[in-house]
Amino acid sequence: MRIQKYIADAGICSRRKAEELIVKGEVKVNGQVLSELGYQMQEGDVVEVSGQEISAMEKKVYYLLNKPKGYVTTVKDQFDRPCVLDLIGDEVKERIYPAGRLDYNTEGLLILSNDGEFVNTVTHPKNQIQKKYIAVVNGTVSEDNIKKLQRGVVIDKKKTAPAEVFLSEIFKDKCVVEVTISEGRNRQVRKMFEAVGHHVIDLKRVQIGPIELGSLKTGRIRKLNPNEVQALLSAAGK
Ligand code: URA
Repeated sequence: MRIQKYIADAGICSRRKAEELIVKGEVKVNGQVLSELGYQMQEGDVVEVSGQEISAMEKKVYYLLNKPKGYVTTVKDQFDRPCVLDLIGDEVKERIYPAGRLDYNTEGLLILSNDGEFVNTVTHPKNQIQKKYIAVVNGTVSEDNIKKLQRGVVIDKKKTAPAEVFLSEIFKDKCVVEVTISEGRNRQVRKMFEAVGHHVIDLKRVQIGPIELGSLKTGRIRKLNPNEVQALLSAAGK
């Protein structure tokens, strides 16, 4: 087994992140800093990641969190802001981490697991799992701009892939738009609306592939059942 799969199986992070850690010199095997990404694990190898010994035997667990605003999706924050893991109580003993990201001020559905292979599958751009958001946007988005958003708009010099965009409610000075995208570019939904002259006031993710947020309260977690885990993998073509 390659070292990056071993680290992912131990629930430390995804395989891609493990590769980054190896390149940064954060991974030691038998006390030596590892220099090659393709290292094949040998019987009895002792692996340390960022100074901590790891073991690959943890049970795989899968959770869904309704992330509140005002939390970062990283495991630790350089500015000491609250992290989503602060919301996970003592009942979760495994070292879970988020599959993908939501911005500090975005709320809603976030999947967490200690299964590196699963996280990699769910987040990998090539698997194109659909994510649905409810955006509250200033003003009223015109029919013309809805069509533009559906066809794709240029953000960060690259056109977005076709999206499902549906204007669901109109208020005096704002409206509600449902957006389903298959990409996961940085601040994508916010930037899509900026590209057509609107500002996102509130943003909430309500669905990832077949998994819906449903009535889960803000800040609460629940376990994904095996059928849901399988349904997510199927949505990724696995
Ligand atoms: N798009 C955004 O703009 N922010 C998120 O958190 C997720 C998608």
